[in-house]
Amino acid sequence: MSGIKLSMRVWDAPVRLFHWLLAALVVALYVSQYLDRMWLHYRLGEVTLSLLIFRLLWGFWGSDTARFAHFLARPSAAFAHLAGFRSAKRSENAETIGHNPAGGWMVVVLLLLLFAQALSGLFARADQHSAGPLNHYLDKSASDLVSTFHSWNFYALLAAIIVHLIAIAAYAVWRGEDLVRPMISGKKRLPAATRAPRLASSWLAFLLYLVAGAIVAVAVTR
Ligand code: HEM
Ligand code: HEM
Repeated sequence: MSGIKLSMRVWDAPVRLFHWLLAALVVALYVSQYLDRMWLHYRLGEVTLSLLIFRLLWGFWGSDTARFAHFLARPSAAFAHLAGFRSAKRSENAETIGHNPAGGWMVVVLLLLLFAQALSGLFARADQHSAGPLNHYLDKSASDLVSTFHSWNFYALLAAIIVHLIAIAAYAVWRGEDLVRPMISGKKRLPAATRAPRLASSWLAFLLYLVAGAIVAVAVTR
């Protein structure tokens, strides 16, 4: 499709803030445990968990493009999208508002792995003197199991992040489509006839973040 294009806001500020904070936190979480700054690791991990809970809530009550119901397509649609990846004309996909059918599933995989990582961290133990805030609920064998899971799940998460980055590079190289800029500015150029997505209020996002933060604070406070 050609014709007049207009710049439209497709990603709201809360999703963009969530995304870049999350990416920075994952790096900081890796570095903090690498440097054995476990107290910092636990606090950053708790912040990460609060962001993930926020994103879950935003997936139900947020802007159109943030909603799971909006971007979770049938698996067959995701496969069809991937099958036509190189043959489809650049414009066909460039006009997707929000995550495309395959990208939507990638988001779910990333979020599930991140949730598993953050929740297992709460119950994991680093050594005799240092453990996540909920580790005292577990006996030794359960504690060992969760700690091992936390270590291994990180590699699964890393693999998913690498696929995520390769996919973004593939869109740029083979389809000439820049997905990164909209994740920064929120805006994408779309045909003038496109119905702009409904964006939810940032105040609602703030309120939902407070709820998410309170859930984590209550859970980790003894
Ligand atoms: C630790 C690293 C990262 C993690 C865990 C991560 C995770 C995610 C998640 C969960 C989403 C879905 C956003 C939402 O709907 O809320 C997403 C989308 C996205 N991410 Fe990342 N990300 C990471 C790094 C990056 C980097 C470094 C870039 C840029 C090069 C990037 C570019 C994007 C883009 C462009 C989208 C939107 C894709 C689309 O248009 O459908 N991400 N990422
Ligand atoms: C998405 C968030 C998180 C990421 C990416 C992450 C990442 C990591 C990594 C890479 C390790 C090193 C594993 C190894 O030694 O092989 C680790 C260890 C650890 N993390 Fe996390 N973590 C996260 C959240 C948390 C949270 C929320 C807590 C607790 C509040 C936590 C507590 C721990 C503990 C106790 C260890 C030592 C366990 C062990 O070495 O087996 N983590 N984390």
